[in-house]
Amino acid sequence: MVHIKVLINCALPYANGPLHIGHIAGAYLGADVFARYNRLIGNQVLYVSGSDEYGTPITVRAEKEGKTPREIADRYYEEHLETFRNLNINFDIFMRTTWPEHSENAQDFFLKLLDAGYIDKGTMIAPFCRKIGRFMPDRYIEGTCPYCHYPKARGDQCDNCGRTLDPQDLIDPKCILSGETPEFRETDHFFLRLDLLEDRLKEWISTRSSWKPNVVAYTQNFIAGGLKKRPITRDIDWGVKIPLQGYETKRIYVWFEALIGYITGAKEYSKRIGNPDLWKEFYFDPEARNYYFIGKDNIPFHAIIWPAMLMGYGSFNLPYDIPANEYLTFKGQQFSKSRGIGYSVDDLLKAVSADYLRYYVASILPETGDSDFSIEELVNTVNSDLIDKYGNLVYRVVSFIDKYDLKVEPVDISKDEEFLYAIHSFQAFSDELSSVHIKKGLSIWLDLAIYANGFFNRSEPWKTVKIDRNRLNHDLYLSLKIIEILTAMAYPYIPASSERMWDLLGIPFRIGESYNRLNEMHTFDVRRGSIPFVKLDLESVKAKLNN
Ligand code: 2FM
Ligand code: ZN
Repeated sequence: MVHIKVLINCALPYANGPLHIGHIAGAYLGADVFARYNRLIGNQVLYVSGSDEYGTPITVRAEKEGKTPREIADRYYEEHLETFRNLNINFDIFMRTTWPEHSENAQDFFLKLLDAGYIDKGTMIAPFCRKIGRFMPDRYIEGTCPYCHYPKARGDQCDNCGRTLDPQDLIDPKCILSGETPEFRETDHFFLRLDLLEDRLKEWISTRSSWKPNVVAYTQNFIAGGLKKRPITRDIDWGVKIPLQGYETKRIYVWFEALIGYITGAKEYSKRIGNPDLWKEFYFDPEARNYYFIGKDNIPFHAIIWPAMLMGYGSFNLPYDIPANEYLTFKGQQFSKSRGIGYSVDDLLKAVSADYLRYYVASILPETGDSDFSIEELVNTVNSDLIDKYGNLVYRVVSFIDKYDLKVEPVDISKDEEFLYAIHSFQAFSDELSSVHIKKGLSIWLDLAIYANGFFNRSEPWKTVKIDRNRLNHDLYLSLKIIEILTAMAYPYIPASSERMWDLLGIPFRIGESYNRLNEMHTFDVRRGSIPFVKLDLESVKAKLNN
């Protein structure tokens, strides 16, 4: 197998609130499964995310809580790190956009694009609050949505109908800090000349035939409306400084610099491991593949603005794939901690293990359409699929071997129909995972677990143990090999449990090697021990969640 370089970037979550399971389903779990899978097959992976800490999402939160933006960012950066750790989502680096190195990278991008003519100066109309005496960010203006008449629409977006807005569109706009009606005045800013890159972007998108149809359609639609230059600076003081004199009261817009966070993350990781040029192999080697795992609301930024910035800068690899997910909902609504809809990841982890949560969420990942999360379904999926089909199979085989104190000897099963079936399943699984079809991979795995149970039943070891020890050994070896294949396939989804399964089977687990061993007829040193699964009880899960 040819090994490739895979850069896996994951949307930088705003450091302004706890992560909920909707975030995890939108981007992080799929990315983590994909990263683990790529490592297992021996690809060179660089897995990057970070904390998006500037801009109004943070300042609005800080004002609500009576804290400084930095206090908010510090708190949620730590919280997010902890949540990812608890869920076994293991980035190589989780950077922060408030790192000074990040400001340097963002300013370098800004100046380079300015120099190349892809950024220019202009003016725009913005809301000015006379009472406070300054321009207010769009998010700080609220009023009635002109489309759906929701009374608390924000100047950037209506949370009720989802439309992108301009503060001037609002009916009866008010500044959320002073309550005053803003005045709309001219202010100087810098603009990204998307219009100059429109043709190149169109041409590039038309070659993205392997992308999800909804991502391509969304992007083409966006471009079809004609690309206009977009302001990339704001009248705000919490952000990366503009590296030019005369703009001291303004900052680079959070979206413009956050995207550069991917590069900052890769560079800082390279420094930390003592190989400062490593990141270049991922960004400049045309054979390296750059993936961006995001929720669908981030598509325009990753499929248009980011490629435009990279094209403008020159020589960077453009995104290889942007496997944007749809939404995970709770009783049909979007998760929202502030509105009390659904659960945060930390709440859920008090009631179920990380692997159970990963398993269930992977099984309903909103890859091709929205899907709904429910505790009843979580309990049911874990009990009847993960535990009854896989856990129970391992339990039956291992406890049978234990009961009769057997030593299963390796035999050549490479021509056996059941082994060939399992290898074939594994290949189908690999094809799906290579195309970032995370949910489909898991369903192939489950089918193989069902098949393996069928084989174990058919082989009737409780009979052959009395009459045909050769047959018994052969069949148990075959069951163990299929369990090994199942465990290898399960690893990206349920890493902690899989590692314990490898121990139980007595085959040491090594990244990059375990997949190669699937075809070898090696020995198993099956140990006594319990399988790492205990069934969930709906009532007690609910009780823990409500505590
Ligand atoms: O939607 C969000 O949560 C943004 N903070 C995502 C930023 S992704 C990239 F720009 F880094
Ligand atoms: Zn609306």
